[in-house]
Order: sequence, then structure tokens, then C-alpha cells
Amino acid sequence: MSFDRLAAHYHWMEKIFAGGLMQRCRTTFLAHTKDRRHALLIGEGTGKFLVELLRVNPRIQITCVEQCAGMIQQAQQRLAREQLDVSRVSFQQMDALRWTSPPGKFDLVVTNFFLDCFRSEQLQKLIPQLAESATDDAIWLLADFRVPEAGWRRWRAGAILASLYLFFKLMTSLSASWLTPPDKFLANAGFKLSDRRLFNFGFAHADLWMREG
Ligand SMILES: C[S@@+](CC[C@H](N)C(=O)[O-])C[C@H]1O[C@@H](n2cnc3c(N)ncnc32)[C@H](O)[C@@H]1O
Repeated sequence: MSFDRLAAHYHWMEKIFAGGLMQRCRTTFLAHTKDRRHALLIGEGTGKFLVELLRVNPRIQITCVEQCAGMIQQAQQRLAREQLDVSRVSFQQMDALRWTSPPGKFDLVVTNFFLDCFRSEQLQKLIPQLAESATDDAIWLLADFRVPEAGWRRWRAGAILASLYLFFKLMTSLSASWLTPPDKFLANAGFKLSDRRLFNFGFAHADLWMREG
């Protein structure tokens, strides 16, 4: 899987196809990051959440694990444009599935529109691995798409997701062919869903998961 072909186009495509929806989801629980000191952002892409995190939290140190060099370049250009302190951000160009970190380091983990890239058996391995690197009182923010339980909202979400997965499969050779809710893996890793907001008729959600130290 590689997002290289998409990196330069991701920003305008998001704007045209999703408007402000994805950024609303990413930043829903931003206020909860104000007291955090070490953040792990996985698959951060073009850095839209990253710049907001740096703005609200002047002391946070951030590690971004991102596989795609083009995405890292987009994020770095965004930081430069916004004149933010890049010394607080460490980019690691890595496959998150192979990444290992010192255990118990991060009090904030963020996976925005990232877990939907993986199949269930990959999430079963990836989520506990990322959770290992989190502190006992860590919070985990995630935004993603979802399929509502029933009715026209379910059909609508299913149709949009089918086209999205087809597009990403063709452009990036995405591993996943459909959405796997990560809830049970997060719960098994010791996180509890503290708040969830739904957007766009239940097609997208923003979650705040907490570990109780
Ligand atoms: C759908 S994009 C989401 C980007 C961004 N987080 C957002 O909110 O729009 C998925 C991102 O995850 C990255 N990615 C995909 N697989 C990865 C992996 N195995 N390890 C690290 N990053 C990965 C891609 O390069 C891309 O930037």
C-alpha cells in the first residue's frame, strides 16, 4: 500500500469531496490535548490535525509515523507555511505495522482516517502494538468513517464507502476492502470509549478513548 500517487492531490480532493467534514471530525476533541506532553500521530497524511495540535499545545512533543514520503513533505510544507515550530515534531517515515517504540512513552495517540486502511487481522496486531507505546493515562483520538445501523443512512454510507474503497484500492493498493470497526481492539488494549460524536448522518465519527491510569 502506498499513498505516494495521492499525496500532492489529497488536500484538494478532500476539499472538493468532503468539504469541512473530515477536519471537523479530526478536531472535535482537540481541547482534550491541551495537557498532553508526548503525542504519537500515525498516518497523519498532509498534517491538517498536526498544525492544530501544535497551535493549541505549545509544549507538546510530537512523533509522526507516516509511510509515505510525499505525505511527510506535504505536512512539512504546511508547517512551514503556518510558521510553526518544527523542532517539536519528529517525522519517521515507516510502516506502522513494523514500527516499535519505547513502551509507555506517549500520553496521546491519534489515528485520523487511518485505521480504515487495514484489514481486521492487521488491526488485531497494530492496535495492541500502538497501545504498548501509550502511557497508563493516555488518550486516543480517532476519526473515521462508519456504517450506520439501519435505514437509508446505512445504504447511503455503504454506497459512498464502496466507491471510496474502490478508488483507494486502485490508487494505493489499499490492504483493506471494507471498514473494520476498531472498537473491540481498543477495548482489549485497555482503552474505554469516553465520547463519540457522529457527523454527516452517521457516516463519520470522532472518538475520544481513554485509559484509566
Ligand atoms: C486515508 S490517509 C489519512 C491521512 C490523514 N490522517 C487524514 O486525516 O486525512 C491514510 C494515511 O496513512 C498513511 N499510511 C497508510 N498505511 C500506513 C502504514 N502502514 N504505516 C504508516 N502510515 C501509513 C498514508 O500514507 C496516509 O497518509
